[in-house]
Amino acid sequence: MNMGTPVVRFLSIATLFTICLLLCNANLSAPCKQNERQALLKFKHDLEDYSNQLSSWTGEGDCCNWTGVGCDNLTGHVRELHLAGDMSFSFSGKINPSLLNLTHLSYLDLSNNYFGEMQIPSFLGSLKSLRYLNLSYSSFVGLIPHQLGNLTSLQVLDLHDDQWELEVESLQWISGLSQLQHLDMSGANLSKASDWLRVTNTLPSLVENLDMSGCGLCHIPGGIANMTNLKFLDLGFNSISSTIPKWLYRLSHLQSLILSPNSFHGEISSSLGNLTSIVDLDLSYNQVAGNIPNSLGNLCKLTTLDMSWNNLNGSVSEIFESFSGCSSGQIESLSLSWNNLSGHLTDKLDHFEKLRLLDLAYNSISGPLPPSFGNLSCLEEVRIGDNNLTGVVSQLHFTNLTRLVEFEASGNSLTLETTPHWLPPFHLSILDLNSWHLEPSELPMWLQSQKQLVFLGMPNTGLSGTIPTWFWNFSSELSHIDLSENKLYGEVPHMFPSSPIAQILLGSNQFSGSLPLVPSTAVILDLSNSLFSGTLFHFFCNNNSEPKLLEILHLHHNLLSGKIPDCFRNWEDLVVVNLESNSLIGNIPRSLGYLLSLKYLHLRKNLLHGELPPYLKNCIDLTILDLSYNKFLGKIPMWIGTSLSNLGVLNLRSNQLHGNIPYKLCNLTYLQILDLAHNNLSGRMPRCLYSFTAMTTFSEDTQLSQEIYGDLYSALYADSKMGKIENSNVVTKGREMKYGTNLLILAISLDLSHNIISGEIPEELTSLIYLQSVNLSYNRLSGRIPPKIGDMKRLESLDLSMNQLCGQIAPSMSSLTFLSALNLSYNNLTGEIPKSTQLQSLDQSSFIGNKLCGPPLEVNCSNTNVTVPPVVDQKHGGSYLLEDGWFYLSLGLGFLFGFWSVLGSLLLNLPWSIVFSRFQNSIVKKLYGVIVEHF
Ligand SMILES: *[C@@H]1O[C@H](CO)[C@@H](O)[C@H](O)[C@H]1NC(C)=O
Ligand SMILES: *[C@@H]1O[C@H](CO)[C@@H](O)[C@H](O)[C@H]1NC(C)=O
Ligand SMILES: *[C@@H]1O[C@H](CO)[C@@H](O)[C@H](O)[C@H]1NC(C)=O
Ligand SMILES: *[C@@H]1O[C@H](CO)[C@@H](O)[C@H](O)[C@H]1NC(C)=O
Ligand SMILES: *[C@@H]1O[C@H](CO)[C@@H](O)[C@H](O)[C@H]1NC(C)=O
Ligand SMILES: *[C@@H]1O[C@H](CO)[C@@H](O)[C@H](O)[C@H]1NC(C)=O
Repeated sequence: MNMGTPVVRFLSIATLFTICLLLCNANLSAPCKQNERQALLKFKHDLEDYSNQLSSWTGEGDCCNWTGVGCDNLTGHVRELHLAGDMSFSFSGKINPSLLNLTHLSYLDLSNNYFGEMQIPSFLGSLKSLRYLNLSYSSFVGLIPHQLGNLTSLQVLDLHDDQWELEVESLQWISGLSQLQHLDMSGANLSKASDWLRVTNTLPSLVENLDMSGCGLCHIPGGIANMTNLKFLDLGFNSISSTIPKWLYRLSHLQSLILSPNSFHGEISSSLGNLTSIVDLDLSYNQVAGNIPNSLGNLCKLTTLDMSWNNLNGSVSEIFESFSGCSSGQIESLSLSWNNLSGHLTDKLDHFEKLRLLDLAYNSISGPLPPSFGNLSCLEEVRIGDNNLTGVVSQLHFTNLTRLVEFEASGNSLTLETTPHWLPPFHLSILDLNSWHLEPSELPMWLQSQKQLVFLGMPNTGLSGTIPTWFWNFSSELSHIDLSENKLYGEVPHMFPSSPIAQILLGSNQFSGSLPLVPSTAVILDLSNSLFSGTLFHFFCNNNSEPKLLEILHLHHNLLSGKIPDCFRNWEDLVVVNLESNSLIGNIPRSLGYLLSLKYLHLRKNLLHGELPPYLKNCIDLTILDLSYNKFLGKIPMWIGTSLSNLGVLNLRSNQLHGNIPYKLCNLTYLQILDLAHNNLSGRMPRCLYSFTAMTTFSEDTQLSQEIYGDLYSALYADSKMGKIENSNVVTKGREMKYGTNLLILAISLDLSHNIISGEIPEELTSLIYLQSVNLSYNRLSGRIPPKIGDMKRLESLDLSMNQLCGQIAPSMSSLTFLSALNLSYNNLTGEIPKSTQLQSLDQSSFIGNKLCGPPLEVNCSNTNVTVPPVVDQKHGGSYLLEDGWFYLSLGLGFLFGFWSVLGSLLLNLPWSIVFSRFQNSIVKKLYGVIVEHF
């Protein structure tokens, strides 16, 4: 029948239409393959996805539409998996081999996740189609599987590992990656992969981008020489110790070369000029020496040059001259700090028209700052501190510096001359004029225009007068104020302004009146060496319930009087409390026992009295306890030895303590300095002395400094910079420093003089072989000088005078080659002075008042008629080596060393290190204020 025909026709047209529709749809996006969907679901099943990122990955629907999945539009095969974590989420769990069913996968990004404790699965090496593989920052551990070498289509391989937990035994497999263009293995431990370093096999020559920073390399991988397409090469954060190989200069496509930090040495070849494509060159933190070659001027594309922290010398004007070829107009960032550059700054600075950053700090550059400096209108950051610049800097020098943000020029002999109503073109956040001379010598009015100022350093600038009221709130950002070592006087406002002030350094001025209240944000406060008077009551007790952030407090050398108030309960962050040299009376308050972070307590030279209070027991981190020159009474308590086990310095000199020296003091295994002189201590010297292990062995005491540094660091720099550091290799480097080179050469001393200690000098004393100074004078010691005294090889000063020692001088004493101060006078010693150039070079007074003979005494040993000269005035006898300077000198060396080794590791990483180095100079000074002061 014909009847059906139109219907059939209609139906077939409809069918065709439908098919067409389907096809058209498919053309837009083909649905994903069933087995690939299954594979993805299996993959998801093994993944831990706490933040439910993969919620779209469900049984239904087109898997090409799932989060992170990319398909081929035509075939519907899964081609891309974008599964990187970020700040808010990350995947962990397992990686299911079902991925292998994604046979067309060419892009796999699993970066920034957490696959800790898991090896990179070797089956990834079978994903034949992969062109892009990113496993960076994903905490994989263990060996990188050599099967990855099967990925012959791979163009990008990123295995960046910031934990140093990936390892490679051989890099042979890399030669299989013939299409590779980008290889990042930074932070993986390649130190065992020596075969590759020995350069036997060909490496993928297409590679343009190679990052092997932080890989523990000791040699520069020679195979790189054949990577002639290299554009970006990063070998920083390794331990490569060699000269810069010649072939490196032949990589003529290099745009970015980073060799910092390492230990490259030798000179920079003039072939440097062959790197004509170079844009970014970083050789900083190496030991490269000699001149910077003139060929630098051929690098016409150079915009960033960093050669800071090397041993470069030569004249800075020549370097600037060489730039004038073609690069001066290009260069944006020039860092040559921490070298030995000399000479003057060129007066043709205006050629550097794009310069944004100029860092020449810590060199020996002399002469004036040329006025053309003022034409560098792009300048944002200038660091010229710690050079020998002289002359006058005027407003002219800043004419066009409208973008200047940071001006760090401390430690020069420059004079800043400004007119009172100058309105600077810039808006600074950092201004450091430490040691400049300001003309006029008042706080400059123009500071008021710097409303974003964060850091103001004007110590030692001859400032005089009072601080004007505007000063305290011209910038709402101000966090660091240093006006110390000036001649400022008058009162400091009762309340500091409420800007986020963290550090207030006003020490060594002539401020008077009562102490201000501490701002709630302050971390460091230095009001020392001034004329502040009145009591401490309001200072400590005001707003008593509010917790304070203060960590470092210096109020020493003022006219403060009254009691130390009992208000320390909310000052729990205090690490350093220095109240020395005031007129404080009364007892040590009970609430000091709340200061669980306290490490340095300096109360010397006050009028404090009473017994040493037991609540100090709680301050178990105490490292320096200095209560000297007060009127403390009673016995030295046992708990000092049992509870304060971190003590490095115990100074109880010049008090009224009596009784025995408790043997528990011998538990203080970190003790470096023990000064109990000028008390009424009696009994015998404890025999257990030998367990002062710090005195018998080298000790790694850097922990202390690291902690303090950490505190300060987080307090001062808890800003965006922090994040940056955490992502860099600071961990690796830090670890290295920590377990590497921290041997402290401890200087150590023991002073028990001017007491009434009796009995013999215990033989055990001589096992403290790192002692450098021993003073036992003015006691009632009897018996012989320990025969093994010669074991104390480092002894520089020994005072045993005014005792009742008898017998002969131990012959071993002749082996004390460092001994430069010896006093054995007024004992009952007999016989011949042992022969050694050291002993005979000493003054006769070292031996008088005995029955000794032989040089340096004029008494001939055959002549037995020895006359005893009269006793000298007791008060002036004895050695005061442990007083002031020496006391702290010895301490300072050890502690500062630790401090610097920590800083060193951080400094290596920080682009802002130079500013910071200024900060920490003052921090070191404030932290160890007394120590440095006494140098
Ligand atoms: C793809 O997913 C989006 C939402 O994520 C949805 O609106 C859209 O309809 C989906 N398309 C297909 C073809 O499933
Ligand atoms: C696939 O489709 C997307 C958007 O629909 C498009 O951006 C992409 O270029 C297409 N890819 C191919 C290979 O056609
Ligand atoms: C791949 O898919 C096939 C068929 O769907 C399945 O049998 C096999 O187990 C899958 N392979 C993996 C490794 O999941
Ligand atoms: C993968 O590489 C290993 C050695 O690196 C080799 O033994 C293996 O045959 C390769 N597998 C494939 C499928 O090519
Ligand atoms: C560079 O490659 C050639 C052959 O391709 C090879 O002979 C030579 O040893 C390689 N050089 C280095 C330093 O790897
Ligand atoms: C740098 O270039 C010069 C001149 O073209 C050439 O003589 C010199 O050998 C090159 N240096 C290196 C290391 O190839």
